[in-house]
Amino acid sequence: MTVQYLESPGKTLIHRDRIAARITELGREIADDLIADLQAEGLGADAPDRVVLLPVLTGAIIFTADLVRHMPLHLSMRMVTVSSYPGASTMSKGARLRSELPTDLEGRHVLVIDDILDTGQTLGLLKDLIAEQNPASIRICVLLDKQGVERKHDITADYVGFEIPNAFVVGCGLDYDGLYRNLPDIVAIEA
Ligand code: IMP
Ligand code: MG
Repeated sequence: MTVQYLESPGKTLIHRDRIAARITELGREIADDLIADLQAEGLGADAPDRVVLLPVLTGAIIFTADLVRHMPLHLSMRMVTVSSYPGASTMSKGARLRSELPTDLEGRHVLVIDDILDTGQTLGLLKDLIAEQNPASIRICVLLDKQGVERKHDITADYVGFEIPNAFVVGCGLDYDGLYRNLPDIVAIEA
């Protein structure tokens, strides 16, 4: 039976079936790239302590949960909390780290995962802070990449699920005032 949300807050941009199919592809692609890096070091997919995933709370948890199930290699998961968009605002107000960053990233392959790349402040901040630890690699993966936005930080994602127009969207982890993260589709809120 298909779960029907109480009432959709807007227009469906990306249906759950397309999201699932794309995340399957993306997980395999990222895993292949990471495994290639490990092989270049003379290691295999089962090498311990080489790959660290850093999902950005709270928005990335649903995407991450789906993604990692298509990544057949040893990895550990840490979480970071970055605040932006406080309250119900749909305007980015800059990013601030609200949790400790892991301090043992040196020499490891780091994959930062977020729900959406918008002004780039969140991922720009994280990338700079992670780079200070000299990891073996830093990759950025986002479910959505918003187009037509003025980036406030010069950053691009290495892996993108979908490019979307400059609209405010919810679902699949993305919220409006804390709500709608559990919507299975990506929905554009009507202004
Ligand atoms: P940035 O720092 O401007 O790139 O914003 C990234 C963060 O803002 C994301 O992690 C989201 O939490 C939030 N965000 C940006 N655009 C949207 C949106 O359309 N819907 C919900 N949250 C968004
Ligand atoms: Mg977020």
